Amino acid sequence: MQVQGKVAIVTGGASGLGRATVEALVNAGARVAIFDLSDELGNALAAELGDAAIYCHVNVSDEQNVKDGIAAAMNAFGAIHICINCAGIGSASKTVSKGEAHPLEQFQRIINVNLIGTFNVLRLAAVEMTRNAPEGVSGERGVIVNTASIAAWDGQMGQAAYGASKAGVVGLSLPVARDLARDGIRCNCIAPGLFETPMMRGLPDKVREGIQMQIEYPKRFGLAEEYAKLALAMIDNPYLNGESVRLDAASRLPPR
Ligand SMILES: NC(=O)c1ccc[n+]([C@@H]2O[C@H](COP(=O)([O-])OP(=O)(O)OC[C@H]3O[C@@H](n4cnc5c(N)ncnc54)[C@H](O)[C@@H]3O)[C@@H](O)[C@H]2O)c1
Repeated sequence: MQVQGKVAIVTGGASGLGRATVEALVNAGARVAIFDLSDELGNALAAELGDAAIYCHVNVSDEQNVKDGIAAAMNAFGAIHICINCAGIGSASKTVSKGEAHPLEQFQRIINVNLIGTFNVLRLAAVEMTRNAPEGVSGERGVIVNTASIAAWDGQMGQAAYGASKAGVVGLSLPVARDLARDGIRCNCIAPGLFETPMMRGLPDKVREGIQMQIEYPKRFGLAEEYAKLALAMIDNPYLNGESVRLDAASRLPPR
């Protein structure tokens, strides 16, 4: 699908991987609705991008919030062609620690944002996509890009909740692509390795050095722009569908 002239939703678009994708989409000629909880960052980015972007305060796991955000995007731009799901949160808790079980509420919170939030947004965005005129020889109406993590396969100690949430995002991407095939809507998933974003920047130097050891080549954290490049390639390439792609410089996470 051509990005020029299209309308995108980017969740988690105020920061990190989402922010870089918002900027890449606008540079490629799209208009973007940024869905996030960080009003300060979201409003500042929308102001920077002028008429090409709006910011909507949306909690991705709240049904009414997402419906309101989609209504605001439709009102501002008249259609939705692209949905990029970047909103996500991390967690670190062992299954049993010092004799205490992993807090259930924490497990539920991670699943609620990372997995249920992703599905909540894509299902409601897809309804609007079904109303678009078909484009090109394959009659495309929309493209969805989800964000998992290499923790979907290589979850480390303490990542039961995060790994489960991201394995869920990988797991839903193919059936969603199948569900939406007859509507001309594709769904793919990016599983990032270790990226230089505010989420990772908070780590102590020692931990960062340890993580960097796991990266093969290039031996550095990924750049948010490199995530955005793959997201745009997934939008562009009509034959890429139902796939989860690791973007990780050949990293394989060890147990700890
Ligand atoms: N940075 C990495 O190394 C890395 C690696 C693998 C996967 N990921 C995944 O990539 C995605 C983006 O991560 P990032 O590194 O850019 O993080 P980030 O913290 O920089 O950005 C995440 C954004 O999501 C927003 N957000 C959080 N919960 C939300 C909610 N309920 N509703 C709406 N917005 C919400 C935050 O406000 C923030 O702006 C996440 O899903 C993360 O799990 C990141």
